[in-house]
Formats: sequence, structure tokens, C-alpha cells
Amino acid sequence: MEDMMKCTPLRWGIIGCGSIANRFGADVVRLGDHKLQAIASRDAERARHYSAKFGVPTPYMGADAYNELVSDSEVDVVYVATPHNFHKDHVLMALAAGKPVLCEKPFTVNAAETELVVSTARQAGLFLMEGVWSRCFPVWRRVMQCITDGVIGDVRLLYSDFGFRAGSLGSDWRLTGYDPNGRLFDPNLAGGALMDVGIYPISIAQMVFGNPVGIKAVGSLGSSGVDENVGVVMVFGQGQIATATTSLQVTTPSTTTLLGTAGRIEVPSQWWRPKAFTIYRDGKDPERVELEHAGEGFQFEAMEVASCLRRGRKESDIVPLDATLAVMRALDAVRVQLGLKFPMEDC
Ligand SMILES: NC(=O)c1ccc[n+]([C@@H]2O[C@H](COP(=O)([O-])OP(=O)(O)OC[C@H]3O[C@@H](n4cnc5c(N)ncnc54)[C@H](OP(=O)(O)O)[C@@H]3O)[C@@H](O)[C@H]2O)c1
Repeated sequence: MEDMMKCTPLRWGIIGCGSIANRFGADVVRLGDHKLQAIASRDAERARHYSAKFGVPTPYMGADAYNELVSDSEVDVVYVATPHNFHKDHVLMALAAGKPVLCEKPFTVNAAETELVVSTARQAGLFLMEGVWSRCFPVWRRVMQCITDGVIGDVRLLYSDFGFRAGSLGSDWRLTGYDPNGRLFDPNLAGGALMDVGIYPISIAQMVFGNPVGIKAVGSLGSSGVDENVGVVMVFGQGQIATATTSLQVTTPSTTTLLGTAGRIEVPSQWWRPKAFTIYRDGKDPERVELEHAGEGFQFEAMEVASCLRRGRKESDIVPLDATLAVMRALDAVRVQLGLKFPMEDC
């Protein structure tokens, strides 16, 4: 495995053939030193379609497809792209087959599951990373450098939001705000705004300030029992504060602002996949920093995985497993305050 990791291209196997698997594939297929080697879908037609669309040599289909994919010796790394509540089992399945893993966010349903998965990977000496792609973007790497360099002084506050009006299309072509068949509204798939997109502001605040030492949350649950509107305030070790708002009812401005003692940095909409940011230094003209890139930007997390594997690293410095654990604990703390427990947590 170690020797194989030095090989180019890095051969990806993808579990689950839904929306994110298609978006990830569209970006990764363009990278010269990566290859989409295998796709696994429960549905034969979806697997064949994906395989043809992206030139994937090995489509696995049917009830045992995921197992077959992780056992494929031509797959170097597994990308788990199933709904949240399956992440734990699918990551454990890949680790048991000796495969390094990139797993979509949120990493699991709760911190207890994350602890199990992380300790399994560490004991096995296998690479594992959460696919919280925003952290890997060049804009966010540069913003972090600005913070380290003190460009806006000591950063004390962060405001961030990620919400959108969800639902199905109504007869007037407007989103209804509720979709009884949608993953986002299904408690059995660990739905809700917080787990789907509220995790982003929480993860970015953790990247900027470290692990929160206090969390206050308010919110409301919708008719299906998942959260649809949430506000979170977090406090950090040196008294820094971050606010995070998330919603399935309304589309939010989708910006993040960091406020320091000597200025501020604004990452514009959509801050989780940015191509630019602006630095406002006290007493100086604003400086806009543009960092263009092709596609949506899933290539950056794939490149981070490849870089780690080729260096023999078991964890990413950009998305460390301890950060993932801290974010999952924060999500747990928010859910306790909202009174939101998922059905699969009862067993
Ligand atoms: N990073 C991002 O920007 C981003 C964006 C969207 C979603 N995500 C994350 O990606 C994950 C998947 O989201 P998605 O939007 O791609 O979902 P999706 O379109 O519903 O696709 C999920 C796939 O998981 C597989 N699956 C296995 N068991 C399933 C079950 N019982 N019910 C439904 N699907 C099942 C299915 O693949 P087969 O039937 O083909 O096997 C399905 O197509 C989520 O954890 C989400 O948080 C990340």
C-alpha cells in the first residue's frame, strides 16, 4: 500500500452515486495525476451512466456493490459519498479492506460515531479525512496565512452563515420550503440544516479559532422533526466569538467576515467555495485578492488527499481528525440545545 501510494495517478473508488459523487467526479476527472477508477451504486443504471459520463473503468452495481468496490485492488483511496447516517458503516467497511478514506461531511451522525471511526483508522494506520472541502480552497489557505501574519491584527469575531430555501418546486416554480421525499427533511437520513450546511460555519470557525469552549444555540424544528432554522454562538479560548446561522427556510447572504483589531476580511458569497476575498485594513484602501480556479473546487480536497498519501501522512493538517472530532462535538452540543435527536441514535 505504501508503495502504491507513491504511484501516479491516484485511483479513486467512489461509494454512492448521487449528487455529490457527480460534482466531485466532474472536478477530479480533470486532474492529470488522479483517476476515477471505480464507482459503486445500488442501482445498475446509475453506475453505468456515471461510468460512461466520466470514463470510469469499473462500475460496481447492486446490493454488494460497495463491498466489491472497497475490495478492488486497483482502488487506492475510497471516497464515501452516501448520506450522513451511512458514513460510519461505509468508512469502517473501507478501512477494514485496508483502504484510505475521504468521507463527506458531516463526518458521521454524532461525535461517538466519529470517535469510533477515527480510533479505527488510527489503530490501522490508515489515512482518513473529512471532505469539508472549503478548508482546502486556495482562498481559505490564503486567509489563514493573513491571520497568521497579523494582517488584520488579532481576530476577535467571526460571522458566518450558510442557509438556503430548500424543498421541491411548486406549481409556481418556486421552492416549496419542504420536500417530504428529500434527504434534507428526513430524520432517518439525519437531515436538517445544521448537519447539512450549518456544519460549514462551525468548521470554519474551528479552523480560525480552534476548538470552542462554549456554545449557545437556538432554533426551530419543522414538521418532519429536523431543524430548519438555527443560530449558534461559540466562544473560544481567548474570548473570541463566532456566530453561525443556518436555514432550510431562507437563502442567507452566504458570506463570512472575520473582524480583527486592525481591520477585517470579507469572504463573499458563496464563501464555502470562494474565488476571492477582500482585506479591509484600518486606514487603507480595500485589497481584493482573486484566486480563480476551474470547476467547483472539489479538486482541492482531492489534491490534499493525494499530497498526504504520497507523503505517507495518515491525517491532513488542513482537515485534521481532531478538528473533525471537535466539530462533531459542537454539532452534538447544538442538537442537545435544539432537542434534536435522530431515530438511529435511539438504538
Ligand atoms: N461537500 C459538499 O459540498 C456537499 C454537497 C452536497 C452533499 N454533500 C454530502 O454528501 C453526502 C451525500 O449527499 P448527496 O447530496 O450526494 O445525496 P444524494 O444525492 O441523495 O446521494 C446519496 C447517494 O448515497 C447512496 N445511498 C446509499 N444508501 C442510501 C439510502 N438508504 N438512501 C439514499 N441514498 C443512499 C445512493 O447512491 P446509490 O443508490 O447510487 O448507491 C445515493 O445516490 C451527504 O453526507 C452530504 O452532506 C456534500
